[in-house]
Amino acid sequence: MSFSNTQASTYNDKVVRQFAIMTVVWGVVGMLVGVIIAAQLTWPELNFGIPWLSYGRLRPLHTNAVIFAFGCSGLIGTSYYVVQRTCQVRLFSDKLAAFTFWGWQLVIVAAAVTLPLGFTTGKEYAELEWPIDILITLVWVAYAVVFFGTLATRKVRHIYVANWFYGGFILTIALLHLVNSAEMPAGLMKSYSAYAGVQDAMVQWWYGHNAVGFLLTTGFLGMMYYFVPKQAGRPVYSYRLSIVHFWALIFTYMWAGPHHLHYTALPDWAQSVGMVFSLILLAPSWGGMINGIMTLSGAWHKLRDDPILRFLIVSLSFYGMSTFEGPMMSIKTVNALSHYTDWTVGHVHSGALGWVGLITMGSMYYLIPRLFGKKEMYSVKAIEVHFWTATIGIVLYIAAMWIAGVMQGLMWRAINADGTLTYTFVESVKATFPFYAIRLLGGVLYLGGMIVMLWNTIMTASQGRSVTTQIPAVTHAHA
Ligand code: HEM
Ligand code: HEM
Repeated sequence: MSFSNTQASTYNDKVVRQFAIMTVVWGVVGMLVGVIIAAQLTWPELNFGIPWLSYGRLRPLHTNAVIFAFGCSGLIGTSYYVVQRTCQVRLFSDKLAAFTFWGWQLVIVAAAVTLPLGFTTGKEYAELEWPIDILITLVWVAYAVVFFGTLATRKVRHIYVANWFYGGFILTIALLHLVNSAEMPAGLMKSYSAYAGVQDAMVQWWYGHNAVGFLLTTGFLGMMYYFVPKQAGRPVYSYRLSIVHFWALIFTYMWAGPHHLHYTALPDWAQSVGMVFSLILLAPSWGGMINGIMTLSGAWHKLRDDPILRFLIVSLSFYGMSTFEGPMMSIKTVNALSHYTDWTVGHVHSGALGWVGLITMGSMYYLIPRLFGKKEMYSVKAIEVHFWTATIGIVLYIAAMWIAGVMQGLMWRAINADGTLTYTFVESVKATFPFYAIRLLGGVLYLGGMIVMLWNTIMTASQGRSVTTQIPAVTHAHA
């Protein structure tokens, strides 16, 4: 193999470094807003009567910040790292890669400004108004060109499975965004959805559920399939299972959206289709979880003193837990109890904090020292502290929400012998108060861990240097 210049013989890790740093920064910001809204639910007067601090505006700021700023920065950054290493070639285009970084940061800043100002389409997880939607589309197309362009110019014949997951995530998010954001502008920051009534709801939850399935799940599985084997120093437990996992997952997720619309105007058969596919989803999800965890077989002892591996493996346990809980909640009779309650919020955060959060943190702890020419993070002790504060935080958060959720569901449906309601709504709100306080404590711990990570990252980066890694000449192994 010959290289025309030194750039072509090295990896582009500059953009990976940028995304990695911003993942940690946006993690702190997004979780801080999470803590603020958790405090507002406990003490509503904390909005101080200021419109842009009101719960209705900060809540979408939280979800957008954690999913699109923290989550996507982690996904795009790691995908650039992984695709170069597994294809043994530099990113397809440095300029486009730089555009995806700056463009994506611009999207995030635009969201951070417009959401508190009250500009919203009102569609959950797709709140951003049409000019920002167009910017998202441009950045995403550039991202797809960089990622698939790199795959197309690879020096290794085989496409490692992590790239399948990242690729599935990139293609699907493009499709979801284009279809769900179809809208008619009515001014610079106002638009109307192209769909109406129940069709609008169905398109929205086809989008919403697949955002969970392909962003919060498939993308992070890409991360899992690279960083778990790397950190464990073992090959993936079953490569064959990973391929089955991929195809089964992407086929099934697409049909599960209607479980968000049980007992609505959506035709009954469509609700049942959603429920059945959600139940089927348990199988590929658990196949994937087992594949990840079993990658450690023969190396279990490493869990004792490797906090990074602990992040990765515990994240897989939460992945297993939330993908068991989800199918249960999609059963219509269970959903009759759980819907509208904090049980849903508990489910969301066992996936979000437990799976998405921990897998990202673990992967970043692997990545960041390598990007700065260090063998490990500045403080391994601090990783340990982060692990425990995060884990205790998650347990407090989700246990509080489970109890609160089931309690609310039972209180709302309780009736007296004469058919009147046993409890007024406000009684259920009062009964929830202690659980909101516990959730807040859990959130503060989780955020605290993230702040420790930010400090550790700054120390690692400032003591290290931006290294350039040569692409190895041997082309048959997964780098
Ligand atoms: C310190 C950590 C966090 C805290 C304290 C927190 C808190 C909250 C609160 C209070 C809500 C509103 C719940 C409601 O409306 O009743 C919420 C919603 C949400 N959060 Fe978080 N959050 C945190 C981290 C995260 C992370 C890391 C993610 C994703 C990776 C995430 C994803 C979401 C989503 C998707 C929702 C909307 C849930 C729904 O509509 O059912 N959160 N969060
Ligand atoms: C087999 C996998 C899963 C299934 C079948 C599933 C199913 C469900 C169901 C039935 C709901 C409640 C819908 C409602 O009553 O409104 C729900 C809500 C939700 N789930 Fe899952 N879930 C799965 C995995 C996950 C994972 C791994 C995550 C996060 C990483 C996640 C994130 C969410 C979010 C964000 C919502 C709230 C949506 C909203 O109302 O805003 N789910 N899921």
